[in-house]
This record gives sequence, C-alpha cells and structure tokens, in this order.
Amino acid sequence: MKVAIIGLGFVGLSLAAYLGSKKIKVTGIDLDNEKLQSIKKGIPPFYENKLKSYLKKAIDFGTTFESEITKKTIENDLIFVTVGTPIDKNNKINLKFIKSVANSLENNMHDTKHKPTIIIKSTVVPGTTIHTVKPILERNSLKESVNFNLLTNPEFLKEGTAMEDTINPHAIIIGGTNYTSINKLLKFYQKIYSKKNQIIKTNNSTAEMIKYANNSFLATKISFINSLAIICQKIEGVNVDEVARVMGLDPRISKQFLKAGPGYGGSCFPKDLQALISFSNSVGYKPELLTAVHNTNNNQIKIIMDLITKNISILKNAKIGILGLAFKENTDDIRESVSVNLIKLLLKKKCKIIAHDPMAIENTSQIFKNKITFVTKPELVCTDTDCIILLTPWKEYQLIKEKNFLKMKKPLIIDTRRILKIKNKKIKYIGLGMGKE
Ligand code: UDX
Repeated sequence: MKVAIIGLGFVGLSLAAYLGSKKIKVTGIDLDNEKLQSIKKGIPPFYENKLKSYLKKAIDFGTTFESEITKKTIENDLIFVTVGTPIDKNNKINLKFIKSVANSLENNMHDTKHKPTIIIKSTVVPGTTIHTVKPILERNSLKESVNFNLLTNPEFLKEGTAMEDTINPHAIIIGGTNYTSINKLLKFYQKIYSKKNQIIKTNNSTAEMIKYANNSFLATKISFINSLAIICQKIEGVNVDEVARVMGLDPRISKQFLKAGPGYGGSCFPKDLQALISFSNSVGYKPELLTAVHNTNNNQIKIIMDLITKNISILKNAKIGILGLAFKENTDDIRESVSVNLIKLLLKKKCKIIAHDPMAIENTSQIFKNKITFVTKPELVCTDTDCIILLTPWKEYQLIKEKNFLKMKKPLIIDTRRILKIKNKKIKYIGLGMGKE
C-alpha cells in the first residue's frame, strides 16, 4: 500500500510520521518549502511531543517529502488530504486549500491507469466532499468509482498529544458511498490499529458533521463551565473546580473539558464553531446555542480585563507579568491564544508587559517584537510587577516559590487556571471561578 499525505500540519505530519514508522511507504507533500526542508532533516516545524522520534523512524524507513502534487502522486493507493481549512472574514469556511489540492489532483489524474482513493481528512462543513471536491475532480470527464474513489475521514487529534491520538484514536470514521473503497480504507486501518479502535462506516456528509459535532460539544462544555465559574466567583467560598469535579463523577457528563479558564483558543475550536454557525445559518437555522457558546468564549477576555481594572486603578505604565503564552500547555502554538489577545489589549492601555512561556516565546516575539519583554524563567516575571496573570496551565508554574511573588510591587495574582497554591496572606490571589473565602 502506497500512501500520499497532502498538507503537513499537525494532522498530516503526525500521520506521515506514524505510518512511516509502521513501515508503510509514505510521501508527504507540502507547498511550503521552508517547512519541507526542516521536515526532510527530521526537524518538525512545530513542537509536538514524540513527533521528532516518530519522524526519524519514518525517514529512516524511507518516507519522502515533496513540494508539489504530480503524476507520481496519483500512483499512490491512498491520498490523504490534510490541508488547513481556515475561516474567511465573514466567518465562513474558506476552502481555497482544499479546492487547490482537488484542482492539482484532477490535473494529474488524466491518462493514468491508477485509481487512487482520495481521503478528505481536513475539517470541512457537511457536503464539502460531495458538492465541492467531487465536482472539481469530475469537471473534465473523470468519474468517481471509475477513475478515483472519494472518502471522508475526519481526524480528532489534540495538539500536545497528537502522536498518542494518531496512534490510538478514540474512533475512526469512514464516510463514503463506494463500498469497495470504504472497505479498502477499513482494511488498511485494521492492519495498523488494534481491534479496540472502533471503526464506523457512514456517508461523507455525516462523517463531516460528526467532526463539527464533537468540537462544538467540547467547546460548549468549556463555555458552560466558564459561565458557572463567573457565577461561582460571586459566591463566598465556592470553587468551580470542586463543582466540576463532582459534576464529572456523573458518567452521563464525564469530567473532561470541564476546566474553567480564560476561554478556549487554538487552531480548531474558535474557527470550527464559527464555521458551523455560518453553515447552519446558510441552511436556514439560526443556532442560538452555538452562538452563545462562541460569545461566552469571546467574553472571557473582558472578564479578565475587569478583574485587572478592578484591582489596578491606573493601568498606564503598570507592569503586568504574563505566565503562559501558548493557547494551552505542552505546545508552542499561539494561534487564537487568549494570552496574546490580552497582551494586545493591555498594550493599548499602555501597560508594560513582561512575559514567560516555556515554549512559545519565539512564536510570540514574532508578533510583539520588542514591544514586550520576554523572560526565560517564570520567577523573573515577578520583580517589581503590579500584577501577574497566569493564562496557560504549565506544570512548572506550580513550582514557583512564594518568596518570588513577594518581589512584586504589591503582590497580586490573577490565576485564570487556578493552579497556584498561595498561602502567604501578603499576596492577593484571585482564582478565576473561586468565590472569596
Ligand atoms: C481540539 C479538539 O480537542 C480536537 O479533537 C480537534 O481535532 C482539534 O481541536 P486542540 O485545539 O489541540 O484540540 O486542544 P484542546 O485540548 O481541545 O483545547 C482547546 C482549548 O480549550 C485550549 O485553549 C484549552 O486550554 C481549552 N480547554 C480545554 C479549557 O479551557 N478547558 C478544558 O477543560 C479543556
């Protein structure tokens, strides 16, 4: 079985590295030459736990990387499409990368006896595979089932655990209409995964919808607990974490994705929620609940700003320490990071920012250049600061000794993830979602 993977982001590169490590013949394709050069040397262009070692195994086995789709690409049995699906300025899904890949595949698919199975793994709104990709592939006399097969196979991996999730997915969804090709992909997956991994067969559009259902439900859980956190904060002695812990004991609810915080960020939830809302509107249903989830999330930054302004009377020239820049722990990704958006707001108010993150400084410095100060040790954000805001729950922040916080001008900490344990009464500690003691 020969496999091509088009688009080497978190999804595509993790898959290429895993399949290559399993001794499957893989060709990874990405237009970005700079990225490709780094990958070819075995260096992932972003941080992801364990990815480097899997990539090395894959390269040692013979995984190759190319910068364009050619006739050779069509010779692969399986062609996974894992390109990005951003949203445009109207918050609608932007399918330009998917369309461009479909165009290139179609251009190269004529005059060949190969009949590849093309698998859309990118997150796309329901109907995209059938109503957008298929017509492009068929526009010049090619036909599904005759010249190619077309499946939808969404991916559920999380950043930070992308390799684990690729190796052990909670479910594998294969959407399509041609049973021969569905079974071909099913057999492929049965070979690389254990029997424990559930494989579900469905049609293309249901497969596409399942992915949005998962992401929007998880986002709903987060906005739900963030709303409760705001209420908890107003009630003496109530802690949202205890409420969430006991809620999670109910097996109908489960404890996952009930950690209150500054709001969800990253490359998926914010854009997928908006894409689903726009899609829903376009098919004639105004999705009030999803809109509330999205608005609740956007409002979190205002809740944090209110806490800051309530506790610091003059923001101009106030020195604010930021703990955590990545949108979550164990990644260097700052896309849609609340931390970055908060820094932008604080800079507008003329605050001075001193920030730490174990992995995301390089990415963040490309945005702010020398407008903010970065430090390589978390303790260093303390000296002479007026307020520290913890936004990313990196474990190492729990190791900061209290004496460091006493070096602040007037110790004040806003902990949006409630991971610090502060005992010293000289330090004013505000945990988001923790009612006053
Ligand atoms: C998400 C989905 O989990 C994954 O299935 C999908 O394929 C891509 O989108 P990812 O964005 O990598 O993955 O991270 P995730 O762990 O889901 O976190 C998203 C955001 O929600 C982060 O900002 C995180 O801090 C926040 N979050 C998560 C919370 O605030 N509370 C929680 O309980 C869980």
